[in-house]
Amino acid sequence: MCGIVGYAGPRPTVRPSGPTGGEALAVVLEGLRRLEYRGYDSAGVAVVTEVEGAATGGGDQHELRVTKRAGRLARLVEALEAEPLPDAAAAIGHTRWATHGGPTDANAHPHTSADGRLAVIHNGIIENYAVLKAELVEQGVPFTSQTDTEVVAHLLGRAVAAGADLTTAMRQVCADLEGAFTLLAVHVDAPGTVVGARRNSPLVVGLGEGANYLGSDVAAFIGRTRSALELGQDQVATITATSVEVTGFDGAPVTPRAFTVDWDAAAAEKGGYQWYMDKEIHEQPKAVADTLLGRTDASGALVLDELRMDTAVLRRTDKIIVIACGTAAYAGHVAKYAVEHWCRIPVEVELAHEFRYRDPVLTERTLVVAISQSGETMDVVMAIRHAREQGAKVLAICNTQGATIPRESDAALYTHAGPEVAVASTKAFLAQITACYLLGLYLAQLRGNMFADEVRTVLGQLHAMPDAVQTVLDRSDQVRELARELADSKSVLFLGRHVGYPVALEGALKLKELAYLHAEGFAAGELKHGPIALVEEGQPVFVIVPSPDSRDSLHAKVVSNAQEVRARGARTIVIAEDGDDAVLGSADLVVRVPRVPTLMAPLVTVVPLQVFAMEVASAKGLDVDQPRNLAKSVTVE
Ligand code: F6R
Repeated sequence: MCGIVGYAGPRPTVRPSGPTGGEALAVVLEGLRRLEYRGYDSAGVAVVTEVEGAATGGGDQHELRVTKRAGRLARLVEALEAEPLPDAAAAIGHTRWATHGGPTDANAHPHTSADGRLAVIHNGIIENYAVLKAELVEQGVPFTSQTDTEVVAHLLGRAVAAGADLTTAMRQVCADLEGAFTLLAVHVDAPGTVVGARRNSPLVVGLGEGANYLGSDVAAFIGRTRSALELGQDQVATITATSVEVTGFDGAPVTPRAFTVDWDAAAAEKGGYQWYMDKEIHEQPKAVADTLLGRTDASGALVLDELRMDTAVLRRTDKIIVIACGTAAYAGHVAKYAVEHWCRIPVEVELAHEFRYRDPVLTERTLVVAISQSGETMDVVMAIRHAREQGAKVLAICNTQGATIPRESDAALYTHAGPEVAVASTKAFLAQITACYLLGLYLAQLRGNMFADEVRTVLGQLHAMPDAVQTVLDRSDQVRELARELADSKSVLFLGRHVGYPVALEGALKLKELAYLHAEGFAAGELKHGPIALVEEGQPVFVIVPSPDSRDSLHAKVVSNAQEVRARGARTIVIAEDGDDAVLGSADLVVRVPRVPTLMAPLVTVVPLQVFAMEVASAKGLDVDQPRNLAKSVTVE
């Protein structure tokens, strides 16, 4: 959801020093550019700046300046270029994914207090804002937006006007708020200070030299520092150029956990690709390799010491429930096939937002595996809390250090895909599947379901997967061409069985979210139970064919499914292994992938579908990296 940046640096000597303002603006705009994937309905900045000539005159020495615009960040930058803001020792910036109130200039953040001396930005939802707003309106406070956030601006402004310093005001106001929020505020009375607070929404501190930062995630300040602090639930952070103080909402001092970000600014740049998504698709061999890296000992055995979970807990586990959303949930679907096969433990996969509402049966022998790229998906956070309250243990598979989901779980296994900027998930998906394989093998090793040699063999196969993924990428021109040809399709269907089923679902999701096309993924066996009625002349249907080596004539059954739709006029695009000639009679086009073990096939078969969706969107002139209505990190339920 929304992206938030805060900067506190030295008192400026030159004003303004850049096309859009000084250093403070440069830092904040750079942060917003990196966070724009979190929301792009509007963007805005606020600076607390010295009043020109204030040193000689009386009255206020500082003033608050705010610029905000509906639309993409580029519109804000245009406005700032037309009218640069002076440099400042403190600045905040926001990029919005609208919840309360449409994407208009007035609803864009920052919001200001009635006296115009304080500005606040917010990520999340203030659930009791209506009650608070009614009270303020009754007291004559004028509102200029339809947002829940403006309530906080007025409450904070009043608390400071009543004598509280900004940090104390933040604590007081947060105590009265319900819901999820990250808040950053600046005030003219505290010209070099930014105060941040968090409950159920992300906030991290960046530690610089002579400057400090606040951000929704480390991308906000990665161009400036890799040294960061993880903030916990219900905490307030006050930063100046030279200090960082963290307390609980109760005022008690807190020592936050420090960490170093394990990627740098270059990793978050496009690196010559037109789209982040294209770059991230090409980073997939590395994402898989890095996720495998360092997880075997000298003898080749699997070691997951970082899990920090009592092995007795893993040994006694009698059920696994995977909770996740969207693409991450499809990684969980793939995990089900592998983990059940290797470990003989029943695995359920559940959308996190459905999980806690169905009163799931959980015991202390249930292992809940929460999969999330961002580590901030609120539906997953709430599901984790529910699972732990019921006595289950939670293991997070996550791509983001310092995020809420690993912090609130009993154990964490990190994927090492590096920063994923494009809204549509690609390399994180492959890394999640890889981490799930590692977890499955680790459980099988620990519980004695597999001999050490067997685990080593499968690990060897996994280590060969980055090359296999690279081979698919090297052949992607065929799919790119196909995408341009099919860009005007009204609907595309995807069929798969076994691990090909979640791949079909993922192929359809990618196409929906990027190209705004009707797309559906089906378990191929389900076809005859209804969906086949959709097939008409020329209907494009992707069929993910399993290896001819797969069990129980699975291969033959999927080939038959391809024939069935083709016989009814469908145009079949069959994804099949090198050398699998049995598909030729049922395919209008065959997309070849290298031969890999059946359970690992999703790592290669999904890649042409990602490329296809990206190219269709691109051919339609759409924004591949920032599809409409979406945000990268869904921090509201
Ligand atoms: C689709 C996509 C989403 C995410 C989902 C979960 O391309 O990116 O479906 O997979 O929102 O996000 P995380 O993994 O951050 O919890």
